[in-house]
Amino acid sequence: MTFQNLVPELYVASESKQALKKNIANLKSWDLTQRQICDLELIMSGGFNPLSGFLGQEDYKSVVENMRLSNGALWPIPITLDVSQDFAAGVEEGQDILLRDLEGVVLAVLTISDKWSPNKKYEAEKVFGTNDIKHPAVHYLQNVAGPVYLGGQILGLQKPVHYDFRARRDTPNELRSYFHKLGWKKIVAFQTRNPLHRAHQELTFRAAKEVQANLLIHPVVGMTKPGDVDHFTRVRCYEAVLDKYPAATTTMSLLNLAMRMAGPREAVWHGLIRANHGCTHLIVGRDHAGPGKDTLGNDFYGPYDSQDLFKQHEAEMGIKMVDFKHMLYVEERAQYYPANELPKDATVLDISGTEMRRRLREGLDIPDWFSFPEVVSELRRTLPPRSQQGFTVFFTGLSGSGKSTIANALMIKLMEMGDRPVTLLDGDLVRKHLSSELGFSKEHRDINIRRIGYVASEITKNGGIAICAPIAPYTATRRSVREMIESLGAFVEVHVATSLEECERRDRKGLYKLAREGKIKEFTGISDPYEEPKSPEIRIETEKTEVDYCAQQILLKLESMGLIAG
Ligand code: PPS
Repeated sequence: MTFQNLVPELYVASESKQALKKNIANLKSWDLTQRQICDLELIMSGGFNPLSGFLGQEDYKSVVENMRLSNGALWPIPITLDVSQDFAAGVEEGQDILLRDLEGVVLAVLTISDKWSPNKKYEAEKVFGTNDIKHPAVHYLQNVAGPVYLGGQILGLQKPVHYDFRARRDTPNELRSYFHKLGWKKIVAFQTRNPLHRAHQELTFRAAKEVQANLLIHPVVGMTKPGDVDHFTRVRCYEAVLDKYPAATTTMSLLNLAMRMAGPREAVWHGLIRANHGCTHLIVGRDHAGPGKDTLGNDFYGPYDSQDLFKQHEAEMGIKMVDFKHMLYVEERAQYYPANELPKDATVLDISGTEMRRRLREGLDIPDWFSFPEVVSELRRTLPPRSQQGFTVFFTGLSGSGKSTIANALMIKLMEMGDRPVTLLDGDLVRKHLSSELGFSKEHRDINIRRIGYVASEITKNGGIAICAPIAPYTATRRSVREMIESLGAFVEVHVATSLEECERRDRKGLYKLAREGKIKEFTGISDPYEEPKSPEIRIETEKTEVDYCAQQILLKLESMGLIAG
């Protein structure tokens, strides 16, 4: 394979690596987030070619504004290194810093060329077309990403280590070499973040046939939409489906990409990434990389916006689009057809993604015409019916609203049922055992709630019931906890909506009196905010209602959600 056929990688040659490592041992270092590790891996491996580091300010502005780097090259998504204010204050332009993974392994050196505080509102508006935090990337930008960006050239020292599915992970150049070795000249890539069923197999077959190309199933295993099926399960499903493709024409490789769900811009980005991986075509579907509905229940992007934007830039991308046909099953013919080629008077069968999840959740039949038995049994193994999964009940409300009392009653009732272990993470108990060093500043409250969320997510993952009962006054923090948990099991937010007047009237612990006298600072409802949940799963009114009845209401809700067997 010739040099021209490879994309540039940013790794230092192994001879100089040891010497370099000694020289840089004392440099300041930044601990990368999961998303930054995904981005860095693709920067270093050439998957994000022509980027040679995290964007500097000029490139950032130009990408946000025009989808192009400042030299004019097409690049639709800002790849930035966001850091905390504290860290940013301690580093300067021109300085080298180390970038470490979650275990502290040094992956790269960044030579800082730029440091700036971005206008995130503007970035969200331009890149994602919205400031609605229901968009996962807007939420990430506003509530997770640090306030300062560092830009600069990367020197790669070490590939991020993956212990899972190693044989299925390929760098762009490894894939290019593989295609070259097999003599594959035209390769159509299929991007996916969902399990593959028969309709997907049919459409990928057709796409490959249409352009007479080999097929690369190229699923994303980095970060996808919160709530998606976890990648371990998906990859086991893909492995099962791969057996149904002719080995000589099809292969699969896993892409450690952190998706942004940016619709049209994301489709163009996916194209450029696949071109770097040696593909000549990409299948782009209706609402490609769409993030679902916004706060008002409307789609964030039009159904064909992604295809339109891709088409507009196709000539300069070095990769062509194959448009994705919606495949439907025709009962009489026992065969799939594209929606626009259905035989006359056909009986059409289709199961939506939502319906499929409902059937899994409720343990209902999933017919053979829809999926492969191996895929269904894999999904059933990791997604048992909801009544056998773990879940979290997350109470939120003012101090003295009755959260702990109702949570206790609920715990007892669930223990009486006895089908799953139950753990109560009450506000006061957590403050004693997990968060004793924390106070009540916004920062400390957030740390406290995230700790509770983390423990609850572990309990949920392992099939237990976690009942949390902190004040949790901030919407964004509650949402982060929801996201931490929802991919592992249900998250049931219970707003104990006792009014401030009533809580103060009860003043069980005498704290409101002290807060009014200014003797307790930052007291929720008095001198600190409480942001009411807009759409909790259940809202409980406690005034003139008995505790037992409040707990009953929650039990009924759990039953209606399929979390406890009727
Ligand atoms: S938070 O905001 O979720 O981290 O709060 P949480 O961990 O639930 O702790 C709340 C309990 O601590 C007592 N307390 C205060 N609450 C609010 N604001 C201030 N400043 C404060 N100082 C102490 C209070 O008793 C809360 O208990 P509950 O059970 O909610 O009444």
